[in-house]
Amino acid sequence: MSTGLSAQRHDSPAEHDTAGAERDTAVVGPDATGVGPDADLHGGKIREAAAALGLDVAGLLDFSANVNFLGPTPAVVAAARRAVDEMAWYPLDPPVGVRRAAATFLDVSEDRVILGNGASELIFLVVACLCPRRVLIVGPTFTEYERAARAWGAEIDVLWLSEQRDFRLAPADLDDAAVGGRIARADLVFLCDPNNPTGARFDRDARDRLLDLAAASGTPVFIDESFLAFTEAWPAASATRRADTHSIVLHSFTKILAMPGLRVGALVVSPELAAVLRPRTPPWNLNCVVQTAALVAFAERDVLAETPAATATARAALCAGLAGVPFIERILRADANFLCLRLARPEATHLAARLRDEHGILVRDLSSFPGMGPRYLRTAVRAPEDNRRLVEALEAVAADARPAGGGA
Ligand SMILES: Cc1ncc(COP(=O)(O)O)c(C=O)c1O
Repeated sequence: MSTGLSAQRHDSPAEHDTAGAERDTAVVGPDATGVGPDADLHGGKIREAAAALGLDVAGLLDFSANVNFLGPTPAVVAAARRAVDEMAWYPLDPPVGVRRAAATFLDVSEDRVILGNGASELIFLVVACLCPRRVLIVGPTFTEYERAARAWGAEIDVLWLSEQRDFRLAPADLDDAAVGGRIARADLVFLCDPNNPTGARFDRDARDRLLDLAAASGTPVFIDESFLAFTEAWPAASATRRADTHSIVLHSFTKILAMPGLRVGALVVSPELAAVLRPRTPPWNLNCVVQTAALVAFAERDVLAETPAATATARAALCAGLAGVPFIERILRADANFLCLRLARPEATHLAARLRDEHGILVRDLSSFPGMGPRYLRTAVRAPEDNRRLVEALEAVAADARPAGGGA
């Protein structure tokens, strides 16, 4: 049976011509996927790019981080500025107001919510508290799961999704006994829905089948829904709607509230697991500025409610513009506020450099991203006028095509 999942040695999902792309299905050992301490793991490096170009950050347009283009609103920025006056005092701890607002947004009870200074902190918290010996990651995906698991000494097994199937999991893929065995052998499973960097939501039946298999073997599943509230399936598709006690659901409010510089994230877990995690969370992890800003942002319900439709409209227009760019071979199906582009040639690094140096535009080059490769780029969906600038810049690069290595 063809499962669409890599099960053989060297059956890597994307380009074989990328460093680190040839790998075992079960990856054990340092740097097997390139997620070493020095790997280039993230977009959102606007400060580094501005310094390299000798520009102010305001002179750049950042499509490399996926942040809600409807925010932060002037009211949120003004509230954050006022809160700076409180910096001489300790922030409220626990941050009960933000926890209540987050629980209301997520439609769960407050005793199930653990807040963090960004979602990333909570990935590390869960790994540190559960101490998994073996972690199964559905990839290619966000690299912090692997980094956290490695940092705590876990073995890593990756269920690679196949490029030929647009990196998508079908329910039938999970009928394979070998896959079930790998889920059962894991102490923690990670999946990202919608997935970063590919952009698509998990097939709901596949996700549920995976959760059922994991529940049957008592394996906790960590479902990263950091981008789900950008999709039109929010909130119905959230795994928090299932009555699992084994699921751990992550949200990055950093993205939807548009405050990556302030940072706030939340876990939704069972009250029992919350009682384990809460005492292990550092005190004062949400400073006074983020608490004030997040409260105002959560209160802007119309902005949050408009986000999925505004994102879908902007994404469709951006896709239409990108479809006319000659060297973009394919746009992977996406449900969130970013797109994964496959280029006709393995020139993602060259193209990202030209966009940055010639147009002041940052996109995420996925050449070094485990499981992707030099044909892949990721771009955020931003406000329509910004998206038009990106398309124009790509058209200008296409009109003045220079081979990779020809300088930019
Ligand atoms: C899928 C996913 N989860 C979590 C995070 C981390 O979010 P935060 O910035 O809130 O730590 C990111 C950031 O890019 C992400 O892409």
